[in-house]
Amino acid sequence: MRFTAIILGATGLTGSHLVRYLIEDTNCKELKLITRRKTNFNHPKITECIIDFNNTHHYLRYIKGDVLFSSLGTTLKQAGSKQQQRLVDYMYQYQAAKCGVQNGVTHYVLVSSPWAKINTVNYYRKMKAELEEQIKLLPFKTITFIKPNGLLGQRTQKRLGEKLALPLFLLLSKLFPSLQKHQPIKAKLVAKAMLNSFYKKNQTPIVSYSRNEVLTLSNWDNKLSTTDA
Ligand SMILES: NC(=O)c1ccc[n+]([C@@H]2O[C@H](COP(=O)([O-])OP(=O)(O)OC[C@H]3O[C@@H](n4cnc5c(N)ncnc54)[C@H](OP(=O)(O)O)[C@@H]3O)[C@@H](O)[C@H]2O)c1
Repeated sequence: MRFTAIILGATGLTGSHLVRYLIEDTNCKELKLITRRKTNFNHPKITECIIDFNNTHHYLRYIKGDVLFSSLGTTLKQAGSKQQQRLVDYMYQYQAAKCGVQNGVTHYVLVSSPWAKINTVNYYRKMKAELEEQIKLLPFKTITFIKPNGLLGQRTQKRLGEKLALPLFLLLSKLFPSLQKHQPIKAKLVAKAMLNSFYKKNQTPIVSYSRNEVLTLSNWDNKLSTTDA
């Protein structure tokens, strides 16, 4: 199976690992990076599409291929306001997914959150759930939600909140083993799980992977892709 992959979030922690996996993947014949700025990737199968995320007419033609991976996102601190965060985390991702449907993309893979919940006053959780609900309504053949609790890896920009929360969480999960299933995982494994989810043959068109399932999926050998999930 030779395929074209489109990636949103290629400059991010998870997305950049995914790009590396897709470069190595000999089945991937073309890799389109949809980005607002130049990336550091340079490979014959990469097409870098520097776009204005606010203008779908401008980038519609680029969101064409077999699978659309999205690991776009920002933090409230980086975005500056809830509205700006929603623009990136919800609107940009949803608009790009719609473009994918318009252009015949069949598989959509989103990094979401296990905390996504519609009926909550928590702004972030509600936003993530709203995106999932809207994506579910789009006529992709397959939709995959990858839901890690937290992401580990080297970031160019330090996130103090994450840096402080991690050791505290690790300590608490030693005291309360039931918390272990909520532990953060390496973004590299999340990226591997994203790629493997494309190869998995699922029984249902919409599949969600929780933290432990993401770990299992990341270890799955995608050369066995003729077997069922
Ligand atoms: N952090 C966690 O613990 C955690 C847990 C569960 C789920 N998630 C979700 O997982 C996803 C991936 O997270 P990550 O930490 O790998 O992402 P990340 O490193 O923060 O990367 C985010 C990507 O989004 C792009 N982006 C941000 N603001 C943008 C804007 N205004 N316009 C265009 N592009 C923009 C970035 O591009 P630039 O490089 O140009 O800024 C980058 O490519 C996110 O949706 C996040 O919410 C995160």
